[in-house]
Amino acid sequence: MGIHLSIRMLSKLLVLLLFHLVVANFVDSLQQLSCHAEESSALLQFKESFMIDKSASSNDGAYPKVSSWKPVGGGNSSCCSWDGVECDEMTGHVIGLNLSSSYLYGSLDSNSSLFSLVHLQRLSLSDNNFNYSQIPSSIRNFPGLTHLDLSWSFFSGQVPSEVSHLSKLTYLDLCCNVIENGTPGHPDRLLKLQPSDMRSLGQLPRSLANCVMLEYLVLSNNQFSDVFPIWLGTLPELKLLTMRHNGFNGVIGQSRTNFDFPKLRILDLSYNNFTGEIPPLFPDIAVNMSTYMQAQVHYAIIYVGRSVDYSITLAIKGLDLYYSKVREGFAAIDISNNKFEGKIPKFIGNLKELRSLNISSNILTGSIPSSLGNLRNLESLDLSQNKLLGQIPQQLTQLSFLGTFNVSHNNLTGPIPQGTQLTSFNSTSYDGNLGLCGDPLPNKCGNQRPPSTKEDNGSGSIGMVEFDFKFVLAGIGSGCVLGVVLADVLITRRQELFLRVVGMVRLIIWKR
Ligand SMILES: *[C@@H]1O[C@H](CO)[C@@H](O)[C@H](O)[C@H]1NC(C)=O
Ligand SMILES: *[C@@H]1O[C@H](CO)[C@@H](O)[C@H](O)[C@H]1NC(C)=O
Ligand SMILES: *[C@@H]1O[C@H](CO)[C@@H](O)[C@H](O)[C@H]1NC(C)=O
Ligand SMILES: *[C@@H]1O[C@H](CO)[C@@H](O)[C@H](O)[C@H]1NC(C)=O
Ligand SMILES: *[C@@H]1O[C@H](CO)[C@@H](O)[C@H](O)[C@H]1NC(C)=O
Ligand SMILES: *[C@@H]1O[C@H](CO)[C@@H](O)[C@H](O)[C@H]1NC(C)=O
Ligand SMILES: *[C@@H]1O[C@H](CO)[C@@H](O)[C@H](O)[C@H]1NC(C)=O
Ligand SMILES: *[C@@H]1O[C@H](CO)[C@@H](O)[C@H](O)[C@H]1NC(C)=O
Ligand SMILES: *[C@@H]1O[C@H](CO)[C@@H](O)[C@H](O)[C@H]1NC(C)=O
Ligand SMILES: *[C@@H]1O[C@H](CO)[C@@H](O)[C@H](O)[C@H]1NC(C)=O
Ligand SMILES: *[C@@H]1O[C@H](CO)[C@@H](O)[C@H](O)[C@H]1NC(C)=O
Repeated sequence: MGIHLSIRMLSKLLVLLLFHLVVANFVDSLQQLSCHAEESSALLQFKESFMIDKSASSNDGAYPKVSSWKPVGGGNSSCCSWDGVECDEMTGHVIGLNLSSSYLYGSLDSNSSLFSLVHLQRLSLSDNNFNYSQIPSSIRNFPGLTHLDLSWSFFSGQVPSEVSHLSKLTYLDLCCNVIENGTPGHPDRLLKLQPSDMRSLGQLPRSLANCVMLEYLVLSNNQFSDVFPIWLGTLPELKLLTMRHNGFNGVIGQSRTNFDFPKLRILDLSYNNFTGEIPPLFPDIAVNMSTYMQAQVHYAIIYVGRSVDYSITLAIKGLDLYYSKVREGFAAIDISNNKFEGKIPKFIGNLKELRSLNISSNILTGSIPSSLGNLRNLESLDLSQNKLLGQIPQQLTQLSFLGTFNVSHNNLTGPIPQGTQLTSFNSTSYDGNLGLCGDPLPNKCGNQRPPSTKEDNGSGSIGMVEFDFKFVLAGIGSGCVLGVVLADVLITRRQELFLRVVGMVRLIIWKR
């Protein structure tokens, strides 16, 4: 027994000892990590080719990262410890360069020494001023590149097709290289100096479809003038595509395959010149129960904040904000401010993971499809400023997470479903529909019949809110039940919903 025990202890000790050895070795290797001399000198040359100019960056945390880049003790081996430089632990090659917000000012030429760092995997140059340089075609020298962030950096001209040589690219952010009015709070960034003929980024290179690993593609706030890049639909991993504020135009046709954009979760086409019907890009995929917008999500932990405007935050804060959201199964579609026409297609009711849908400011007609009531995770629904007709379907009361709802400036008629959470929204959500009546609008409904629910009972169950609400009704007069129900709502639903339910209860008590 005793021997047995001590053997076990001994073996534990051995394991510990081994562990220490390994760790010590590892730490050692970190300390000895030395930069290749030619890469070091390439970085120093790169540094020399730019001016440091405070107006070149606009982020609050900006500072001149390259100022600390100096050869130490006559040798050039220290570059792995320089600010913004990341080396491979085994080979010592520079594999990451993060020079975002570094006050860099000057042009980036194709012959820049930067392009001799052929082992680069991640490159961020965002929030600097490259003085309307073209994106250099030497970018092809980085075959291992996975992350490329050139946002907010005053690049102009065509995106070179050489980008498509980057077959490992997962993350491409070209956002915001044409900014009309600077960023809020940063008047320095007005583009008054920009020569007008350099503004257009022209067409997207078709060859971008070769970047088969691409997951995140941000093209927002530029002046691309092109049709919708339907050819990107073959990218098997693409999760996010945002094209907000560009000159994209034309009808988005149906593609040849019906398996386009298999993993797309965030699509932002807002502020472009698209025409024709809302494209049926995804319906078959959603019905097929594939991964598209079907992932199970555990979302209940954090209360994110009321009526978040996801797309606007994207335009301002960049891609990182979305990175985690997409991973947890977030999905959003924003096609606002275009010239889409025709009816709201029924397939949208299949996109069950959708959190935000904005189709505001188009010329859509027809009625609101009751299938939108299937989008149980929806937090934000904006249908405002279209030409929608008919009544607000009763099924929308099933959307129990809805924090923002706007159907203003359409041609809707009939009662707003009374006694539901839909009456708790600000009355401006219903403005500009002459035929709508009932709370929260001032005009009462008279003897109109409530909207019928029999049109679409395919998905069955009653909405959560309705359910709770019935309990609340039963509980009036016995404060106990009321208390229990409200407590339950408080714990399981979001705060604003709680407020809304309390609001409804108050309403009922007062009305009785
Ligand atoms: C270090 O780099 C500088 C600049 O590129 C170069 O002039 C110098 O010869 C290099 N020194 C060594 C020891 O490699
Ligand atoms: C790059 O550096 C900035 C700070 O200058 C930091 O905020 C950002 O997260 C870094 N990006 C990456 C991808 O590490
Ligand atoms: C920026 O571009 C302008 C116009 O092409 C040029 O006059 C100026 O010298 C450039 N500045 C730098 C720092 O390269
Ligand atoms: C790079 O090319 C530009 C012209 O395109 C030239 O002015 C510059 O001197 C070149 N730089 C180097 C380091 O060769
Ligand atoms: C959209 O088209 C209209 C005319 O059809 C044009 O005036 C406008 O400039 C276009 N917008 C963009 C962003 O290209
Ligand atoms: C659903 O999609 C998968 C591919 O992910 C395919 O193999 C399968 O045949 C599809 N099923 C139907 C019913 O279309
Ligand atoms: C929908 O888009 C419009 C215009 O793009 C914007 O003004 C509005 O705030 C958006 N709605 C929501 C709820 O984000
Ligand atoms: C609103 O709809 C009614 C019919 O329901 C129609 O007579 C009227 O012209 C429409 N108004 C607008 C502005 O489209
Ligand atoms: C509705 O919104 C408007 C402006 O957004 C605000 O002034 C008003 O107080 C709000 N009304 C209610 C009842 O919250
Ligand atoms: C609804 O949208 C209209 C314009 O589209 C806007 O004026 C109004 O403030 C919005 N209401 C809410 C509650 O967001
Ligand atoms: C609606 O529900 C009824 C019974 O609840 C069922 O008989 C009928 O088939 C359903 N209709 C549809 C379109 O699912």
